[in-house]
Amino acid sequence: MRDYENDYPAPIQSPDWEHGDERPSNTSGNPSFYDVIEARASRRGFLMGGLAAAISGMVGAGLASRGALAGTGAPLLGFTPVPVSKADAVVVPEGYHAQVFARWGDAISGDMPAFHGANTGAEQGHQIGQNHDGQHFFAIEGSSGDGLYVLNHECIEPRFLHAEGYKGKPLSSRDVLWHDGARDDDEVLKEMNAHGVSVFRVQRQAQGWAIVSDLRNRRITALTPMEIAGPVRGTAHVVTKYSPRGTATRGTLNNCAHGVTPWNTYLAAEENWAGYFSNPDAQPREHARYGLSSKPEGGRYGWHLARGGADEFVRFDARAKGADATQDYRNEPNCFGWMVEIDPFDPDKPPVKRTHLGRFAHEGVVFQKAEPGKPVVCYSGDDARFEYIYKFVSRDVYQPGESDGSILDHGTLYAARFDPDGRGEWLALAPGHNGLTPDAGFADLADILVNTRAAADVAGATKMDRPEWGAVDPATGEVYFTLTNNTRRTEAQVDPANPRSKNQFGHIIRWREARGDAASTTFDWDLFVIAGDPATSRTFDGVALDEDNIFCCPDGLWFDPDGRLWIQTDIGESAQNTGDFAQFGNNQMLAADPRTGEIRRFLTGPLGQEITGVCTTPDQRTMFVGIQHPGATTTPEDHAGGRSVSHWPDGGDAVPRSALVVITREDGGKIGA
Ligand code: FEO
Ligand code: CA
Ligand code: CA
Repeated sequence: MRDYENDYPAPIQSPDWEHGDERPSNTSGNPSFYDVIEARASRRGFLMGGLAAAISGMVGAGLASRGALAGTGAPLLGFTPVPVSKADAVVVPEGYHAQVFARWGDAISGDMPAFHGANTGAEQGHQIGQNHDGQHFFAIEGSSGDGLYVLNHECIEPRFLHAEGYKGKPLSSRDVLWHDGARDDDEVLKEMNAHGVSVFRVQRQAQGWAIVSDLRNRRITALTPMEIAGPVRGTAHVVTKYSPRGTATRGTLNNCAHGVTPWNTYLAAEENWAGYFSNPDAQPREHARYGLSSKPEGGRYGWHLARGGADEFVRFDARAKGADATQDYRNEPNCFGWMVEIDPFDPDKPPVKRTHLGRFAHEGVVFQKAEPGKPVVCYSGDDARFEYIYKFVSRDVYQPGESDGSILDHGTLYAARFDPDGRGEWLALAPGHNGLTPDAGFADLADILVNTRAAADVAGATKMDRPEWGAVDPATGEVYFTLTNNTRRTEAQVDPANPRSKNQFGHIIRWREARGDAASTTFDWDLFVIAGDPATSRTFDGVALDEDNIFCCPDGLWFDPDGRLWIQTDIGESAQNTGDFAQFGNNQMLAADPRTGEIRRFLTGPLGQEITGVCTTPDQRTMFVGIQHPGATTTPEDHAGGRSVSHWPDGGDAVPRSALVVITREDGGKIGA
């Protein structure tokens, strides 16, 4: 996530530091387990010694104690941990090398426009976008030196995007960018083109990794035509002036993490899309439950205020204005909040919004290993305070070589309830199930999906501490999810799956589906690690974190093929290197052995950024890691004076740029081993 306040432009030093999500919008009365935690706690003796004992007991009593993780093999972690860092640099372990790669503004298509601070909107449409997030290396013919790289751009840093326009001018963004209450058209175009997804061919060459020209290189942006598929396609919910039949839309927004399908396509998640819209009128639940701004200027960039009034800009004004929905953009917000499928190998295929995976602030999606003859199963978190974790099970079975994205258009979406006894249940969000009836306000499946959050409220799912990335252990099928933080959880709202009030450091939960059946509707769960300092952190077997691995605010999460669990952190900008967070230094990436609970810090990033996204080539000898929004902790005063806390990666007095780093070992070995 990129830690944006709902009411953009946020003060750079916001006291509400962990806001990343849009403003809390879950006002449902679902129990948060206060009434049952005491029973569980007293059975296991959690309450004997304050928070640490309670946490230790809690995390020690789950899957591990039931033998789920029995057995150990060769050590998975073979590198020397790096210390916490406050340097404006990427630091990797001894014996490793990091190369800067794929910076915001690097050209990938068209006439390959060179990067500079005054690039036009059209030029940005041929360059890598800003604020790198989810990503994947799609090998070409199995190669570990040649592939198509797909990279999400979650959002933008306007003051860096329009760097030359800002120089020496007073900050906030609005002071500079709002011109007499309007926006300059080309600035808006540039912002839209800095969003979305980049697809570009990459090759390992003698001097390192390089972007190479290819007909499949393309930018997908906030303007790209897309199909709507699944149960919501063709319904009144998505009828707009642009698509009177409700089958298409334009653009994808706030693409946070991603997923890779069993048929080797890419899914980009639409996370904090609500802030791009404005609706000052009485909002229907499909606006209100997602936190749309009621301010005329909108919550974030004010694109609908573009002076020229072009249709692709004004659609972010979601008021009902015309005679019916074919005359305006009252339904435009219903076209966002989905998972978007992209086939990197076919540039002529439009991206497809797969509506059966639900509509919410999708962080990402992660698939169970697909088994021939069995349903496809995937999981997705809704990253906002007190929102839910979801699972989708396809109706049809997976057939290698035949199944494609359309298998995601039929099935069942579930929301998770984590029970205090370490068991859990998947609650079907389907007509007639779990209270989802017309009388309760859910007319049909499309209505449930457009209003996924409201449906999960009614079904009684467990309110979580901001679900971010998920990952599936390739050896066991166990599913891990980061819960990054939630300082608004009160003592009365504590539950075993979210065991800390004012949870500022976050934790990682995991579960195992019943009978090892990915499609099961029940599961066992425990907490893999409670993050934080040595005093309050614990791994599942009760060990405190120490100087080699303290971390907080887990966000990115990925299993490599050997079963190393890579954990990335996102301490919000206003908290980084201050107060309780100073001990953690800059955001970092760690590797964990899920069998033993051992965790080691592998990488630390530059100032002001968050670490976002990681993958390797098939041979695991090249790793790609995302560095998002370096320099974002720069104060308004410093920015106005032409100073930035970070000049990474170009150095000197250069504007900071999101980029990837390519990590290799000097001995050519596997990363992390
Ligand atoms: Fe985009 Fe929740 O991180
Ligand atoms: Ca985050
Ligand atoms: Ca994130």
